Amino acid sequence: MNRRSANLIEYRGLMEHVYICTGHELKIPDVAGSQGVYLFDHKGNRYMDLESGVWCIPIGHNNGPINRTITKQIGSLMHAGFCYSNPILEESSKSILGITGFAGGKCVFLCSGSEAIEISRQIAKHLSGKKVSMTLHDSYLGAYASVTDRASGWYIFNWEPCRTCSKNDHCDPFCEALQDIPEDISDFVFEPGSASGFVRFPPRALIRNMVEIIRNNSGKIIANEVTTGVGRTGKWFGYQHYDVEPDLIAIGKGIGNGYPVSIAAINKTTVDELERKPFKYAQSHQNDPLGAAVVLALVGEIDNNRLILQAEQKGRVFLARLESLVDNRLVLDVRGRGLMFAMDLANKDLADEIYNDLIERGYIIGNRGTSFRIDPPLTLTEAEFDEFFEALMAVLASKQTGHLAFFATDST
Ligand SMILES: Cc1ncc(COP(=O)(O)O)c(C=O)c1O
Repeated sequence: MNRRSANLIEYRGLMEHVYICTGHELKIPDVAGSQGVYLFDHKGNRYMDLESGVWCIPIGHNNGPINRTITKQIGSLMHAGFCYSNPILEESSKSILGITGFAGGKCVFLCSGSEAIEISRQIAKHLSGKKVSMTLHDSYLGAYASVTDRASGWYIFNWEPCRTCSKNDHCDPFCEALQDIPEDISDFVFEPGSASGFVRFPPRALIRNMVEIIRNNSGKIIANEVTTGVGRTGKWFGYQHYDVEPDLIAIGKGIGNGYPVSIAAINKTTVDELERKPFKYAQSHQNDPLGAAVVLALVGEIDNNRLILQAEQKGRVFLARLESLVDNRLVLDVRGRGLMFAMDLANKDLADEIYNDLIERGYIIGNRGTSFRIDPPLTLTEAEFDEFFEALMAVLASKQTGHLAFFATDST
């Protein structure tokens, strides 16, 4: 029996009373430890985590400086009531405003990416008095009904035709698709590199035109950096690959390196508007000192170790290697930016087999239908990537010879 099935059988009882509604099958029920890019099960089997948890661990699991920060902060103040705070909030907020370039802005600290998007949209609606948000058809915006149910309150811009548009690089502002955008949009929630939508990057000129339309109608631009932020794309934030300046930035996942903290960063213009038209959003853990301490430490670690630059440099090398696997038979396409990659497989059965074989060999990647997502910690070394790449090549080779039925097309 292989090690994964053995663990599943031995530890099935462990999860009998845990309700799991993520839509994902549990693969390793007994993760007992972690270090850097690795998870360990109770028998000491090692798994290289190339998905960084749920893309949440940019500087690796069980990180010493983050652990020490948490211990120290717990020793003084984790949480206080709405009327009491701690200077760590101001310090942490300034560090975020520094990396976002939001001089004179403000940050609010929350607990999840969904919440950072929610408050940003509420702020935009409060200020504009308008009720409709706009987003791209393939963007994921969180778990709340306010973003999953898009039947009303949303204008969905389908940019699929823009991918093959001959004017892609220039994007005609008078194009019908752009002219159709209604005037009553309060906010454009822009995900600059759709992660759940499988790492696809909308054209820069299109985004520039969309932003201009929304701004001309007094709407706000919200950058959804929950996945693309914190160095994932080789810059601090994914929007920095575009010629746009957002009004609000929703930051989550990686900013806590596994600790549940998120941030809505608000630019100065919007802060000034909020001064004139006060807004209320009270949640028990708003501006908790513990989350703020983690954020401050995380930003410092990334800066001190020059991890953004490394993500950009390593990303280019790793992307070229992954692209070399495209054979139009098993592997149909590879996309990436920084350390955010997607790989399209010929079909779902093949993807499932490769995914399971990789886990058996001790490698975890994201498996979504016919696509893999690979989002390793920014700290992944070239040697670690090479090790994974060898394993991936070996698994692919085993499918080449044994599973002709998987081929999407016959190349002869
Ligand atoms: C792009 C994007 N936005 C928002 C969210 C929501 O974040 P959270 O799950 O932390 O609430 C996610 C989560 O996967 C995401 O990928």
